[in-house]
Amino acid sequence: MNAISKTAFFCCGIRAQDALSARSICADIYAAEFMTDEGRAIFNSFTGSPKQNVSNVVRSRIFQDEIARRLKTDPQLQVVNIGAGFDSRAYRLAGGRWFEIDEPAIIHHKNQRLPPQTCANPLQRIAVNFGKGELKPALRACDPAANTLIVIEGVFMYLDKAQVVELLQVLRQAFPVHTLICDLMNRDFFQRHMGKAYDHVLALGSEFKLLEAAPEQLFFDAGYRAQSEPVSVVGRARDFKVISVPGFLFNSALKSLRDGYRMHVFAMG
Ligand SMILES: C[S@@+](CC[C@H](N)C(=O)[O-])C[C@H]1O[C@@H](n2cnc3c(N)ncnc32)[C@H](O)[C@@H]1O
Repeated sequence: MNAISKTAFFCCGIRAQDALSARSICADIYAAEFMTDEGRAIFNSFTGSPKQNVSNVVRSRIFQDEIARRLKTDPQLQVVNIGAGFDSRAYRLAGGRWFEIDEPAIIHHKNQRLPPQTCANPLQRIAVNFGKGELKPALRACDPAANTLIVIEGVFMYLDKAQVVELLQVLRQAFPVHTLICDLMNRDFFQRHMGKAYDHVLALGSEFKLLEAAPEQLFFDAGYRAQSEPVSVVGRARDFKVISVPGFLFNSALKSLRDGYRMHVFAMG
């Protein structure tokens, strides 16, 4: 398992914990299923960062709401989740033809704990070694002409600029017309608000590499346009009343907290 893949256990552990809460944000009832001893050890090492934990689960909810909204309009939507980790939305949302793509160790573990045949929606999992250029051929399993939503969550910050440019090129070649939803963190947010939470990322042998002032520019340069206003992760956390930041600060001195980490919706073609 590569170092970035280990972080998938962190995201999953938070959703498992959230699912037990009386005021669950994501209600991911499958997350606990994926947690192994290794997964729990990784997750437990993060518990000193409650704000990051809560942001992570709120991020997941933002993606969940966006995907669900689109499935309502098109129940046949092709959903391609790249770096899917232990996401279980294919099981929890109605509709969609789903692809989950990730490193072999993740896919193998997922298949053992939650076989794709048990999913009510069509679901195909594909194991790829991202570092060996295997994504491009893997995407041939998808329908290039279908109405397609690509989901890339909690991934771009770990890639360097060249890897992002290459990934976007692969997506464009595989799906000339598609929508991409992804979260992007800018340099300002990283420097001012990540704090100690980042120590855990480093401790797992991982690091954030995409530290651009405006990372969305890479997407515009690749031919994408913004389809809707980005959604602030911390803003939604405030809506859910799980993070408290006074409104006057959030909209002035702490704008970097409001706008530095958001889910973007990009359209291609
Ligand atoms: C922080 S986890 C996020 C997992 C999941 N999307 C979620 O939000 O729960 C990052 C994921 O990216 C995957 N990954 C690693 N290298 C990647 C690459 N080059 N491109 C896409 N995904 C990658 C990892 O295996 C891991 O599952």
